[in-house]
Amino acid sequence: MTSRRNFLKACIATPLLAATPRLTLANTRTPWTLTASKTTQRLVPGDEYQEASVWTFNQTVPGPELRLKKGEILSVDFLNQLDEGSSIHWHGIRNINAMDGVSGLTQPEVKPDGQFRYQFPLNDSGTYWYHSHAKTWSQVARGLYGALIVEDESDPAVDHDLVLMIDDWLLANDGTIDEASFGSLHDWAHGGRLGNWLTVNGESLPTIEVAKKSRIRLRLINVANARIFRLNIPASAYLIAEDGYSVPVRKSQDVVLGPAQRADFIVDLDDKDLTIAETFNSEKPYPAVVLKVVEPNQSLVTKEVLKQPQPEAPPLSIDVSIPLHMQGGAMGNLSEATYKDQLRPIRELAQTYKKAWAFNGAITEHHDRLAKISIGQTVSIEVWNDTRWNHAMHLHGHHFWIQREDGTVLDGKRDTYLFQRGEKANLIFIADNPGLWLFHCHMLEHHAAGMGAVIEIS
Ligand code: C2O
Ligand code: CU
Repeated sequence: MTSRRNFLKACIATPLLAATPRLTLANTRTPWTLTASKTTQRLVPGDEYQEASVWTFNQTVPGPELRLKKGEILSVDFLNQLDEGSSIHWHGIRNINAMDGVSGLTQPEVKPDGQFRYQFPLNDSGTYWYHSHAKTWSQVARGLYGALIVEDESDPAVDHDLVLMIDDWLLANDGTIDEASFGSLHDWAHGGRLGNWLTVNGESLPTIEVAKKSRIRLRLINVANARIFRLNIPASAYLIAEDGYSVPVRKSQDVVLGPAQRADFIVDLDDKDLTIAETFNSEKPYPAVVLKVVEPNQSLVTKEVLKQPQPEAPPLSIDVSIPLHMQGGAMGNLSEATYKDQLRPIRELAQTYKKAWAFNGAITEHHDRLAKISIGQTVSIEVWNDTRWNHAMHLHGHHFWIQREDGTVLDGKRDTYLFQRGEKANLIFIADNPGLWLFHCHMLEHHAAGMGAVIEIS
């Protein structure tokens, strides 16, 4: 097995790995409590390393796995025991706007010692996650995230349903969080704050026991601030969903996940252990998690043939087009942009305001509007990633189709799409959810440095 240290070197200024005790809350009607607070957690095994100071929901990274059924109401009391404001966003949920959890947009931030009740119906099944939505580039990087799983009656029967939250941490040599790198303008204008230590469920190379010959559902979630992962599953594996949304079932052993993206696989094990590796960031496959087979030597479910979903095609006509020219970043073409009602040179934007990216020549704030849309219209955000960087563009409150430049439409809908440098694609959605919705890059430093805007639907 590759030594953990080698990975560190392979991804300079990049990651290590790990797994946390998983707490699945009982399915009750009374509100659950998620408390944000600080604690320590061992990210790097070995006595020569320290525990890291992490920010958590309920004292673990990741926070408790919330697992409900489609149609149920999620009710969570959020208590903030941090010493700065925070809030919880339910990523990928087509939520009621007031429950979307965006500090300073859909609610005021929850102050230290404050609380807020989130309550909303779960109308879509699939793999989602929750995370802080205040100073995300710091709070999510420090561990404020967890999984939100919505089960559906028609889900394929499996022996094990496993959530794997993949993260990269930027650690100092002693295993603690590298504090000095937070807020580095260099990172914000480049690829973001990339870690050097990979964890799965908050542990480095965790081992999860599963039954021999069992059928497993794997729910992969990229919770890193900025890093793209490719996961390799060397087994009989079928991709069934992306971003929680059913896609045509296909045999596949690999998936690329940009920040915030998810992929669900059904895997039929034989009687050997299975190592899932990360293959995007280092030359050799980097082991991320081991599924260790144990008795019983059989699957307890019928391995039914996986059903193909009925693909839903986008509407043929577009009511509103929103051109979106993404600019800026290192080696970019942005010389000036409008910010706070004034055209300002990039040097001033960077040095005075820590802004490095713009949409359509402007850097906007929560009170600005990228577009105002009437409810029910079909909208196409015509994105041109005119930068030298990848961007994981996420729309709140809606799921969108992706139309590539050649006109083809990808299967299924997403809430986050990873743009390659130079790529053009249209994100098409039906504006059926009223409110103020953020559209931003989920490379969280890019968002902080200007890559975000608000769409108003009423
Ligand atoms: Cu997952 Cu605006 O975020
Ligand atoms: Cu970006």
